[in-house]
Amino acid sequence: MSNDRSETPAKASHDTLPPKALLDFMMTKWKPALAKLPSEQPNAATFRARRRALSKLFPGEALVIPTGHEKRRANDTVYRFRPGSDFYYLTGNLEPDCVLVLVPKPGGGHNDVLFVEPNPGHSDATFFTDRNKGELWVGPRLGVRESRARFGVDVARGLPELAGFLGTLHDGGKLRWRAVRTLSEKVDALLPDQGERDGKLATALSELRLVKDALELRELSAAIAATKRGFEDVIRSLKTSRNEREVEGVFNLRARVEGNDVGYNTIAASGANACILHWTRNDGPVKKGDLLLLDAGIEGNSLYTADITRTLPVSGRFTPAQRDLYSLVADAQAAAMDVIRPGADFMDPHRAAMRVLAHGLELLGILPFPAEEALKEENQFYKRYSLHNTSHMLGLDVHDCAQARAEAYKQGRLKVGMVFTVEPGLYFQLDDLSVPARFRGIGIRIEDNVVVTEQGYRNLSLDIPRGTGEVEAWMAKVWRAKRS
Ligand code: GLY
Ligand code: MN
Ligand code: MN
Repeated sequence: MSNDRSETPAKASHDTLPPKALLDFMMTKWKPALAKLPSEQPNAATFRARRRALSKLFPGEALVIPTGHEKRRANDTVYRFRPGSDFYYLTGNLEPDCVLVLVPKPGGGHNDVLFVEPNPGHSDATFFTDRNKGELWVGPRLGVRESRARFGVDVARGLPELAGFLGTLHDGGKLRWRAVRTLSEKVDALLPDQGERDGKLATALSELRLVKDALELRELSAAIAATKRGFEDVIRSLKTSRNEREVEGVFNLRARVEGNDVGYNTIAASGANACILHWTRNDGPVKKGDLLLLDAGIEGNSLYTADITRTLPVSGRFTPAQRDLYSLVADAQAAAMDVIRPGADFMDPHRAAMRVLAHGLELLGILPFPAEEALKEENQFYKRYSLHNTSHMLGLDVHDCAQARAEAYKQGRLKVGMVFTVEPGLYFQLDDLSVPARFRGIGIRIEDNVVVTEQGYRNLSLDIPRGTGEVEAWMAKVWRAKRS
């Protein structure tokens, strides 16, 4: 649950009230603020087009989309703010607390009304006294007029006016509205929960985000390119890294240098930890002879994230057992990619990958059933070793478009412009007695990010090496470059 700092301002135990004389002194001798308004943000037309597309889906209804608030960690310490994805998708605005309201116009369509924190400059003492919003505490906010100019919305208003404005939306039930819920306690308290009615707005936003526009594809490609550099940083450091935390730290440094952050907690899983799907404790050793499964993605400054997994031999060379299993996963991934085209079922790549894995597991003497038996819907025995599905949508969120209806996503058809992961894996637990001893404790996943095209698909992460020979050559090249 979010923690609305604007409603429950944090107090630090060491706060002291400034004396009046100091306040008076603080209010004098500041340069006047610039009168010039900021220019419109790059790509403002794209954000506007997204608002218009949403507007068309809900004629005559007000739509309320908050970005959320900083979440409190303890006392007056907060986690770094990350905007709500739907709000960002529609505005490009990164500030906390804002709310976008699309207000229906009498003649059809909507006006965009953006509520933002006002920037009072030095007109009152809050720049110095408000530890949550004051400019000298947390840096300046853009302000109301400036936000209108920057984000190209029809109207911008100060957040203090939000409660009154939302009150007019449900007075007497004259105007119908829907809201994106659970991001802002304040909005949730001001507008009664309408259950499925509100849910349909979240669903519509998820479904609008299923097909990526040209700007999104550029941002995803940039995030993937940065992620490749993060993987190369990790390879460079593997010569001396002795634990998973160091791997995480090295990757995450790149994420902060080149982007906003990581798009999800980095999974730096070495040895048998690779068999734990969401291993983010990252407190194990990294040992020569083991594999390192690194599942990591940089979230760019545009908030789009990559989601890449490579399984690297710490020594630079796969052992024969690791190579056999890795090649099988690589074959499964290639089979999944092969069936990607517009009109295919979203689950087709998964089915193709699981066929290859099941037959390979039978050949390796791991699966104690014929592959065809294991593949039957009522059996799914291969899942003991493959655990998860092969694909999920990718975009502003690593598991993107999660509110889309099943018929539009999981049970739907692929469309040109959809971006998703292809990430089969094999995981042999240390204590799994159904597995030959030489394979126990090995976990392998290969994860790439693809976009559906008219011709089939494009692998956006194609230039991150993935075959066994390619990975070994890649590591050797990075290590050679380090020495020179
Ligand atoms: N990084 C999480 C996933 O691959 O779904
Ligand atoms: Mn993934
Ligand atoms: Mn991943």
